[in-house]
Amino acid sequence: MHEAILFAVILENLQFRYILLQLFKTNENLSDVMLTRNEALNLVKNNVSKRNVLFHMLAVEAIMRGAAKYLGENEEQWALIGLLHDIDYEKTEATPERHSLLTEEILKGLVPEVLIKAIKAHNFRHTGVMPETRMEKALIASDAISGLLVACALVMPSKKLADVKVETVAKKFKDKDFARGAERERILVCEEIGIPREKFFEIALNGLKTIASEIGL
Ligand SMILES: [Fe+2]
Repeated sequence: MHEAILFAVILENLQFRYILLQLFKTNENLSDVMLTRNEALNLVKNNVSKRNVLFHMLAVEAIMRGAAKYLGENEEQWALIGLLHDIDYEKTEATPERHSLLTEEILKGLVPEVLIKAIKAHNFRHTGVMPETRMEKALIASDAISGLLVACALVMPSKKLADVKVETVAKKFKDKDFARGAERERILVCEEIGIPREKFFEIALNGLKTIASEIGL
């Protein structure tokens, strides 16, 4: 009897240690080589000179943060991907097939590989890295909806994001001639990760409104 109890205690102890080990391993993987938000922003500013490119990356950062929060994912990590995802944009404008591959060179050793893979997957048409994870798919949807939201703000008489409502976004989303660059099928990738489109409009709009003054909207 005593032996059975002793065995159960040892087993429980081992399981507990295993769980701790796994947790520690996960945290170690997440925190190894990670830029702070400030370091990332400085890196962006060193690589991007056009205001609209910087504003776009700040926009995607805010939307990714909102999506992560909604899904219970790692907000800091998702936001960082949004902020960094087009860091090579100006340097690869003439060579779109290099877009995000140059980013890989810039970010190598500075952020975890999973972030770099997500950024490569947002240009899957050229890199061939297909989006698979929620984080990778969220980046595609967030990147695409940011253009739609900015366009929605700019057609308001005030040109302010504050006047844009979720219904405005839903209506403009259906108008295929409006902001055609904001590819609707990329926005709809949100539904593959469990965010219904109307909910995603709301999350993205609210996220962008938090930085409206920063991006001149
Ligand atoms: Fe982008």
